[in-house]
Amino acid sequence: METNHIRNFCILAHIDHGKSTLADRFLELTGTIEKRKMRAQVLDMHPLEREKGITIKMQPVRMRYTPGGRTDAYELNLIDTPGHADFSYEVSRALAAVEGAILLVDATQGVQAQTIANLRMAMAEELVIIPVLNKIDLPAADVERTAEELGELLDVPRQSILSVSAKEGTGVRDLLNAVIARIPPPRADGLQKRESALVPARVSGVNPDALPLRALIIDSKYDAYQGVIAHVRVFGGVLKKGTRIRCMATEQVFEALEVGVFIPERSVEPSLGAGAIGYVATGVKDPQRIRVGDTLVTANAAHEGDYVVPLSGYRQPEPMVFASLFPENQDDFESLRAALEKLKLEDAALIFEPEESAALGRGFRAGFLGILHVEIIMERLRREYAMVLVLSNPSVAFRILTKNGAVRTISSAVKMPPLQEVASIEEPWVRAEIIAPARMFGAITHLINERGGSVTEVATLAGERLQICALAPLREIIVDFYDTLKGISQGLASLSYVLCDYRPGDLVRLDIRVAGEQVASFAEIVPRERAVYIGRSRVEKLKDLIPRALFSIALQAENDGRIIARETIPAMRKDVTGYLYGGDRTRKMKLWKKQQRGKKRMKETATVSIPPEVFLKMLRK
Ligand code: GTP
Repeated sequence: METNHIRNFCILAHIDHGKSTLADRFLELTGTIEKRKMRAQVLDMHPLEREKGITIKMQPVRMRYTPGGRTDAYELNLIDTPGHADFSYEVSRALAAVEGAILLVDATQGVQAQTIANLRMAMAEELVIIPVLNKIDLPAADVERTAEELGELLDVPRQSILSVSAKEGTGVRDLLNAVIARIPPPRADGLQKRESALVPARVSGVNPDALPLRALIIDSKYDAYQGVIAHVRVFGGVLKKGTRIRCMATEQVFEALEVGVFIPERSVEPSLGAGAIGYVATGVKDPQRIRVGDTLVTANAAHEGDYVVPLSGYRQPEPMVFASLFPENQDDFESLRAALEKLKLEDAALIFEPEESAALGRGFRAGFLGILHVEIIMERLRREYAMVLVLSNPSVAFRILTKNGAVRTISSAVKMPPLQEVASIEEPWVRAEIIAPARMFGAITHLINERGGSVTEVATLAGERLQICALAPLREIIVDFYDTLKGISQGLASLSYVLCDYRPGDLVRLDIRVAGEQVASFAEIVPRERAVYIGRSRVEKLKDLIPRALFSIALQAENDGRIIARETIPAMRKDVTGYLYGGDRTRKMKLWKKQQRGKKRMKETATVSIPPEVFLKMLRK
């Protein structure tokens, strides 16, 4: 397809504003998926996505569409992206592969925090943005007010804002026509959006298919037969089956075993031309050799001779939380490594390195973008790789300044040096943005202050709702801040945040002992003034989670050698006298005494085994 008949775009929206439903309508309208094969949110292809009703992976799909009254067909490449903030790295990668975005806003909810966060990313990528109101079929939709908010945000007139009902299909054809009319085709000189024409071979007027090949790896997947499948956006040249290809950064050379597009399943094509989005099967079995963000060129392309320069790739996202994963069975260590490597292919934001723990053996310290990200990875390791894992308490990265002047970054409470060696501790802070109705300002400010943060700025959206900016410790935000915020605002407030800097905090290490044994995975770093409160709530929660044993189990929270909270899980009772009937009470007494002695011995010798799901449940604080 000629590049001027290609449109590459994505849909950006706050969670649940209807991206996947709108994508369904596009697929129907363009006949990409037969009606009988259609199901709701068809682009949420991963079982976990369907189960949880959220998108976690970007998913490209190619559609063919001929606008009414015309005879020429267009190739529309849509990338569906996740709405949850923990997966915004997926969004950022999709943005680099497209020229435009539909900014979709639920007209019953109005502009939300993630709408603004996504919009900022799209503007930084210099995308053309089409503002669209969704769910106009609902009686609660306030179309005019939401249009006003969007118009103000984007500084565009009312008539440029479209309205649709993704559910009923109203306005969807007009939207598709607007995609063709407003979003530009891929650059004919084979360059990225902000790349300047450095090289003579790329001056305008050249057929972009005739340029040297340059394709950006935007995502990847592992296939047991074909090795790594790289998802690509071709900028210049043609990617053909059978061609020898080189990855510029890793120097890996491979033969393109198969190329094709997504509709949305993989569909083989003889080649991918300039501007296209599709995949190439590399046959490479080592996931580390094919990296997201790398540039593919032909194997014989000389660096200078053909003016082949790498495309600008992606910045590795900064992990927000860290947690350690230990296989319950130590023999599974290598399988866990292989599983993590494969998951990383599909999830470039995941980072990990081996770690040893005296109590838990060999495992991995991994970095994640948020707690939902931790949960999704744990769930995938369990389901797709049958891994039984122990998970340590997720933690942010702290900077420890020791008395002898050294600075150490630790991302686990276990690594905290003894208190007498610590001069000060610094922790990451975030700049948070909350959008909420004005009447909730008091309650929200109270919550932010309670979590050690402060409100820095307040603005209004279309003179109605508030846009509240605040600074707060990341440690407080990652755990249950969002849930609490939703609770106090009846679900009306939304949140987005970015890391800003490190600040000193009065922090201490909190340990948990189960039956006298310190459990390394439960250790955490908490504010000194709340240590007792947090310690108490942890042992109370554990009391409900750890199954009862034949003997009683002491649960203790400890700070700096002092026990600050305690709970006891009572012993399970077994009737040892049941077979006696009648007779002397002393016979029963004898049996009870014997049972007591047994329990005491058991308590002294037995270790309490904590089921793996307890570690995951402790995450939900
Ligand atoms: P994430 O992928 O989790 O970010 O969500 P999403 O933006 O893809 O939202 P999704 O398409 O899953 O829609 C969320 C809910 O809104 C679903 O229950 C849809 O049926 C519903 N919905 C989407 N569009 C419309 C619409 O136009 N009208 C009505 N009434 N409901 C809609």
